[in-house]
Order: sequence, then C-alpha cells, then structure tokens
Amino acid sequence: MIIKQRKLDGQVAIVTGASSGIGAGVAKALAAEGAIVAINYVSGPDKAEKVLDEIKQKGGDGMIVKADVSNESEVVDMFKAVHKKYGTTDILVNNAGLQQDAAFHNMTLTQWNFVLNVNLTGQFLCSREAIKEFLRRGVVPDRSKSAGKIICMSSVHEVIPWAGHANYSASKGGVMMLMKTIAQEYAPMKIRVNSIGPGAIRTPINHGAWQTPEAYNMLLKLIPAKRIGEAEDIGGAAVWLSSDDSEYVNGTTLFVDGGMLLYPGFEDNG
Ligand code: BGC
Repeated sequence: MIIKQRKLDGQVAIVTGASSGIGAGVAKALAAEGAIVAINYVSGPDKAEKVLDEIKQKGGDGMIVKADVSNESEVVDMFKAVHKKYGTTDILVNNAGLQQDAAFHNMTLTQWNFVLNVNLTGQFLCSREAIKEFLRRGVVPDRSKSAGKIICMSSVHEVIPWAGHANYSASKGGVMMLMKTIAQEYAPMKIRVNSIGPGAIRTPINHGAWQTPEAYNMLLKLIPAKRIGEAEDIGGAAVWLSSDDSEYVNGTTLFVDGGMLLYPGFEDNG
C-alpha cells in the first residue's frame, strides 16, 4: 500500500487551457500536491513549456499537449496521448475558456459560436472522454476514493447576468447544468463533477478591468473583499475539489470570488 504524502500523489490530471491565467495556476497547484499534469494549450507551446518547466523545477512532472477543446478528434487524440504516456486520467480540469464581448444587438454568429464552442462544447467533449476512462478504470483505492474527478471552470456569471457578454454568460449558465447533470448521472459510479466559479481573477482575459488604477477602483466596488483574486486562489480550490478531502462534494459550484455574489451594491443602499 502506497502511503500518500501529498493530496494528489500518483494521480494524473489534464488541465485544459493551462498555458496561462487560471489554468496555469491550477496546473502548478495540482503538481505541488503530487499530480502528474498534462498541460493543454491551443497556441503558444513556449508558454505551456514554461509552465511545465516551473513544475519540474519544483520536483513535479508532466507533459504539454496541444488540442483545440472544441475539436472532437483533437480532444480524443489528447486523451490518447496522455493515456499512452501515463496510463490513465484521474482528474480533468475543464478550464479552457474565452470571451468575445459585444453589445447583444451587434453580436455576430461567429462571436456567439466561438464562445459557446470553446466554453461549453469544449467542456462536453473533454468530460465525455474523461468519463469513458473513469468508467473503464474504476476506483483505485491507493490513489483516490473516487473513480475520477472533473472540475468545470465556470464563473460568477453562471448566475450574475452580464450586459455586453451574452455569449459568455450563456456558456457559463450552460456549464452549470452540464456539470450538475453529469454529476447526477455518474455519482453512482463514484465519479465526482463540480465547478469552480471564479470572480475577477488577475489574468489576461480581464486585463482591462485591473490594468489602470481607475479601472481597478471601479472593479473593487464589486468585490467586498477589496482585492482582485489571483490564480493561486483558484489553485487551492482546485486541489480541494480534486482530493479526497471533498469526497462527499458532488454537483456543486464553489464560488471563489471575494464575495462578488453578495450583492455589494446593497452595502449602503436599499
Ligand atoms: C470573467 C472576467 C470577469 C469576472 C468577474 C469572469 O468569468 O472572465 O472577465 O472579470 O468574471 O466579472
């Protein structure tokens, strides 16, 4: 019997969109707890390599793997490549996501489809491959009490409407029901599916919201904790949801948002 030193020792994790932002933070956090991490990227292998180098410098291990998560055959090939090298997948973090913002009346079908394809269909395609593998392998008690864990990267915008971002909010609302439905469907097979709902996290996706002092002060009005989140804040939540510490947690969204969902406009109003 292996004595587990760290929470994720011996487990294989695929993190999509892991060459920057929240995905990179999550990949590093999982690796620090002993997971072998497949760092998915769609462009810029150098950035993915850099994340892997950092992981290796700290004694971790992993690989980089290119795939557009909205492309069925690329997703299938990504899982094949990971299984060829490491045998299985224990943890999937459906992180890849993007914004293509526009006023609704100006939003093109291309903008709509691009966001839905990556943010929602991408999570469908990756989850399906992961579930197939979890069902094939079943529980390996030395590694985890679960047959597999999926973490869907959602957003506070799975519940907060967001003017000018109809495609993005719709995709995250969709992620919520996708997550809950597959959690219900596979809980009897000891597969756990949960989401993380980040608030404003300092990453390239929202640099306009924090790059100038004026923008940052505006943003703080939405955050009772009075600071922007960092990728490490999400990394910690991902480790917990991946580990047996959360074994009885299934089908829920863990919001990591500094209180953004607490209706901060009501603090001195209403
Ligand atoms: C978006 C960010 C935004 C945050 C809070 C996230 O899901 O990607 O751009 O800052 O929600 O509104």
